[in-house]
Amino acid sequence: MKGFGSKHASAAGLPFAGIPPEMVEKTNALMEDEPDFNDLQLTFSHRAGEEQTFSLINFLSPYKYRMLGALGLVGMTEALLLLGPYLVKVAIDDAIIPKDFDVLIWVAAAWILSLFVAGFVSGFRQRYVGRLGQLLMYELRIRVFAHLQRLSLDFFTKEKAGRLMARMTSDIEALSNLLQNGLVNLVAQTLSLLFIIGILLSFNIKLTLILLVIAAPVMLVMTVWFKTVSAKGYANVRNRIADVLADLQESLAGMRLVISFNRMKHNIISHRNRVGDYRDANNYTARVSATYSSATMFVDSATTIIILAVGYLILVDINPTLDPQGAFTVGALVAFANMVSRFFKPINSLVGLYNEFQSGNAAVIKLRELLGTPPSVQEKSDPIEIEDMHGDIKIRNVSFRYDANEPVLKNLSLHIEAGKSISFVGPTGAGKSTLAKLIARFYDPNEGSILIDDYNLKDLSIKSLHKQLGVVPQEPFLFHGSIKDNIRFSNMDASSDDIMQACRAVGIEDLIERLPQGLDTPCHERGSSLSSGERQLLALARAFLSKPRVLILDEATSNIDQQSESKIEQALDNLLEGRTAIIIAHRLATAMRANIIAVVKDQGIVEMGSHTELIDRRGYYAEMHKTWMQQNAGTNLGQQ
Ligand SMILES: Nc1ncnc2c1ncn2[C@@H]1O[C@H](COP(=O)(O)OP(=O)(O)OP(=O)(O)O)[C@@H](O)[C@H]1O
Ligand SMILES: [Mg+2]
Repeated sequence: MKGFGSKHASAAGLPFAGIPPEMVEKTNALMEDEPDFNDLQLTFSHRAGEEQTFSLINFLSPYKYRMLGALGLVGMTEALLLLGPYLVKVAIDDAIIPKDFDVLIWVAAAWILSLFVAGFVSGFRQRYVGRLGQLLMYELRIRVFAHLQRLSLDFFTKEKAGRLMARMTSDIEALSNLLQNGLVNLVAQTLSLLFIIGILLSFNIKLTLILLVIAAPVMLVMTVWFKTVSAKGYANVRNRIADVLADLQESLAGMRLVISFNRMKHNIISHRNRVGDYRDANNYTARVSATYSSATMFVDSATTIIILAVGYLILVDINPTLDPQGAFTVGALVAFANMVSRFFKPINSLVGLYNEFQSGNAAVIKLRELLGTPPSVQEKSDPIEIEDMHGDIKIRNVSFRYDANEPVLKNLSLHIEAGKSISFVGPTGAGKSTLAKLIARFYDPNEGSILIDDYNLKDLSIKSLHKQLGVVPQEPFLFHGSIKDNIRFSNMDASSDDIMQACRAVGIEDLIERLPQGLDTPCHERGSSLSSGERQLLALARAFLSKPRVLILDEATSNIDQQSESKIEQALDNLLEGRTAIIIAHRLATAMRANIIAVVKDQGIVEMGSHTELIDRRGYYAEMHKTWMQQNAGTNLGQQ
């Protein structure tokens, strides 16, 4: 339990003293209560084709013996439950007609006993099957999550987060239903159907055939109708709920904008439409199911009447004396009529199960698609582990486009020497961030290559590359957790002292001291309780702590006021010292900090050189500089 109790110790400036002796016992008791999550043997790789395609068979095969166990329990319960109607026959033919009360007592006792045993077995079965289902879901959730972690950035910009959430919730839920109820019921009902047909055949073959010939075709027609219509309905339901979730997620995430642009009403209307569509889709499937179940109820009663009538004719024909030991008896006829609804029940639930299979199957298909999506940035099969990178970056004739759009960069070449810093300036949307993302290998170029220390990025192990690369993105993201956790994110081994040092370097120690809980202050919802400048400073501290060989600062100081920025100038210089750095900045004061300035414009680099060189060239940069100077002069005048 590293760090236990360190909160107060470090706040008071004391070294970590471990768990106080009087608390050791309680801590151990607490640890024993920790839930035991069995370890999953998950392999993680950025390569494609290493994962098995997802199918129910593949997914379930490791659990085949446990599933067989579950099936055994299911078969036992069904057989025990069918004993009842058979005992009715015995009671009538062997006890009531011969007026033998002792036999009746025995029959009653046997019936009660069978119910007890059935109750016990079925309770056990429910617990057993439930646990198995939960285990499967646990594994599936982790597998999907792990897969999401290995996908590349482009996937997450294309896919709506809400839809992914739907995959994780309703699709996995549907699959869980299928595994926990569906499969078990399928087996249970099929077994029970077979048992019933067996018993009925033993009563009377002709009557059984009549039942099968009359009931089966009618049921079949109804089932086929129901299947086709409800399949369509269910696909609709799943899509609509995904839309509802996507809409919800988006409007929650964008709440600030919603409020400031008064889009509330508009949002309510659009959400109402989505929810309305979902309701309609559900109503439709409910209507279809209702029609189907009332129709089956009618068929059920009609068949019972027919069986009684035909059964009576057969009875007087082959056993006119109603001999209880005859080939067909009164007891058999009563038991037979009793069993008609029991015969329909499995057929009915098997059809009802069809819905569950439908949505389970839709979920399997969607999950297979998701799990089958390869990461677009892939690792080679035997990647080079790069250690102690120097950070010499060569970009050779690189072209890149997002999807099928116009290329953002075309035939761009650039050499950034190890240990040097370069800044990218240029108009909005020119491709500065894109170029940085290519260097960090968030995307692969469509043409050309990028080399780091003369290794092609594609040949390197992605993990080893990212370990030595620090990226401070345009919009820093803070995770749920304390400020300390967020800074330590880049280097989990960092001590509290290291963290404080990083904070001091970027000048946020004042802020941290001001906060009631210091470093342990929680960051609420993506750090919305901090200002954007403070968030950027935290992100800088995070980068500072990881001490990367190559540092990419994408507008990393854009929200920090100039005074604070000049205060952290020293820290930034420290941070950049000896590292290859790529600084993207709109603010020229920031851009000038680099050794070289490159103007990214018109799908490439149009000017490059030191500040003075570029001023002398009288190009885009000189123009930018002029505007900036004029603006500065204006501000100064305004202040006077
Ligand atoms: N994920 C994406 N999918 C499709 N197009 C994208 C994507 N990201 C960026 N673009 C497009 O690529 C172009 C370059 O974007 P980029 O973010 O690199 O610009 P930038 O130079 O960093 O701009 P800024 O100064 O505003 O940060 C833009 O036209 C943008 O619309
Ligand atoms: Mg950008």
